[in-house]
Amino acid sequence: MFAGKNILTGVKPTGTPHLGNYLGAIKPAIELGNEAVAQGGKHYMFIADYHAINAEKDPAVLNQKMKEIACIYLAGGLDPSKSLFYRQSDIPEILEITTILYAYTPKGFMNKAHAYKAAVDKNRMAGKPDDDGINMGLYTYPTLMAADILAYDTDIVPVGRDQVQHVEIARDIAGAINAHYQKELLRLPDAYVDDHVAVVPGIDGRKMSKSYGNVIPLFADDKAIKKAIFSIKTDSRLPEEPKDPEGILVYEIYKSIATPAQLQEMGDGLRQGKLGYGQIKNMLLDAVLAEIGAAREKYNYYMAHFAEVEALLSEGAEKARPAAQKTLQRLKDAVFGR
Ligand code: TRP
Repeated sequence: MFAGKNILTGVKPTGTPHLGNYLGAIKPAIELGNEAVAQGGKHYMFIADYHAINAEKDPAVLNQKMKEIACIYLAGGLDPSKSLFYRQSDIPEILEITTILYAYTPKGFMNKAHAYKAAVDKNRMAGKPDDDGINMGLYTYPTLMAADILAYDTDIVPVGRDQVQHVEIARDIAGAINAHYQKELLRLPDAYVDDHVAVVPGIDGRKMSKSYGNVIPLFADDKAIKKAIFSIKTDSRLPEEPKDPEGILVYEIYKSIATPAQLQEMGDGLRQGKLGYGQIKNMLLDAVLAEIGAAREKYNYYMAHFAEVEALLSEGAEKARPAAQKTLQRLKDAVFGR
């Protein structure tokens, strides 16, 4: 499926990722990238730091988030000798391409984009003017995202459902430019959504999300992880009471991390009244620590030796940049008739 294809993944450095982000998005993205490379594809993996400044204005916070994201991907198994791993802000051609794309981006596309619409809806709910606090960076962000994608002749963009529309906007802009110049200047990208990816519930049963305050932290110390897991909501049924595992929150979270045999064991134990909530929480804790243990060590190492990561990112940008330069040149030649 990936042979000869360009696969591009972008990640915004916002928020400190939690276990749900890791299992539901970060790890699958790394695995998909590695798989793509193994099949003879090319994998671009970048940190969308220009996207982040629309919302975050504190440079210290931004820098911290960027570091965390870079280290998490490396710790999770991204191989920078195989994937092109870089920062968006190290590729200035992306911004020049964005400017050219603007001329072919109907304003209506931006009005319809989910990220902008969500911000407007939020304002309306709060009784504020539609565009309150909305900057041009947020408004136009699908065009910058289109440049990220189109600069690299991307074939496949692995994304979550919420980002499909943005990839379609990139495709539409590329199509409009190709049609105008009667030439395949830009490759049309496709979004790729993996439906098998886990949506991990949080400790209160809603989707795990920082805004709900229901997360199991990632790369925290054992104590913090244990505390979160032991706060997972349960009821007052006694251990010996046989229980249907479905709907038991600890079991639901376990699904996203356990092997089939481990899951079977927990399910049988609950059904037979042999496992109580304390025991299944310990089983979940063991599985979480086993899953993230090695990555956590690597993460801590990289955070403490960020100069090494900085060097990897610079190297990645150097390797990735020529392709963006080529795309920009192609576009300039066409639009300026040179
Ligand atoms: N907008 C994406 C997000 O919020 C991040 C992103 C920026 C991206 N540019 C991209 C994703 C290009 C894929 C391709 O998650």
